[in-house]
Amino acid sequence: MFNSMSIELKGEKELAAMRKAASVVAETHTVLMASVEPGMSTLDLDKIAEKEIKARGAKLAFKGYRGYPATLCVSVNDEVVHGIPSAKRILAEGDIVSLDLGAIVDGFYGDSAVTVGVGRISDEAKRLLKVTEESLFKGIEQMLPGNRIGDIGAAVQRHAEAAGYGVVREFVGHGIGRALHEDPPVPNYGNAGTGMRLQPGMVLAIEPMVNAGTADVKVLKDNWTAVTCDGRLSAHFEHTIAVTEEGPEVLTTRGG
Ligand code: MF3
Ligand code: CO
Repeated sequence: MFNSMSIELKGEKELAAMRKAASVVAETHTVLMASVEPGMSTLDLDKIAEKEIKARGAKLAFKGYRGYPATLCVSVNDEVVHGIPSAKRILAEGDIVSLDLGAIVDGFYGDSAVTVGVGRISDEAKRLLKVTEESLFKGIEQMLPGNRIGDIGAAVQRHAEAAGYGVVREFVGHGIGRALHEDPPVPNYGNAGTGMRLQPGMVLAIEPMVNAGTADVKVLKDNWTAVTCDGRLSAHFEHTIAVTEEGPEVLTTRGG
């Protein structure tokens, strides 16, 4: 069923497949988060992600997408998003690392990101991770039938900026389903009460990228890795969430 903006509303059958894809993503994240330690390379993490996704009978969502070369996006410290795994990039105690991954089951996508510390991290870094994840959940709380897309971005932006942080504008969340990126775009900023109305069956990936300093980012010469212009830290949290009559259902919730 498609509405005027070509948003496919997911019924129970589609949601069942999306729950499976989302669980694979969540379980893979749980393994990755327990694996992160000083001395390992970002490519080591990519290999773990690929193994865990395939072990669950799912397909890789990112590899080959617009030419992206890996299973995982691994973005360290001032890297904002789309960091390409590399054997040369070795994690050190005190780093923060964003792990963004997707999986496909029965033709449906799940997509989620989390930022974790490597060993002990500074109080400043801890606060950035906490506020960014809270901002994601402020956005999720707005995913109620009758609310609008702008309500999500406004809630995310308000929380992140109240903490003194910059919200990245160049990358946004998205509808998700039979494709990784579907309509509508879901900015992490904006005005409450504006934009498309939310209705049951819409599934969105909300993914705030929050910078410790200014919001400005640039893309490196590899054409993928986005970094903060001021060199300060950036964090990224993402979930795949369905709008239901009963409220938001976070499909990529991690157990424990
Ligand atoms: N969560 C990211 C996004 O929705 C992941 C895309 S990475 C890519 O943009 F490699 F697939 F492009
Ligand atoms: Co996404």
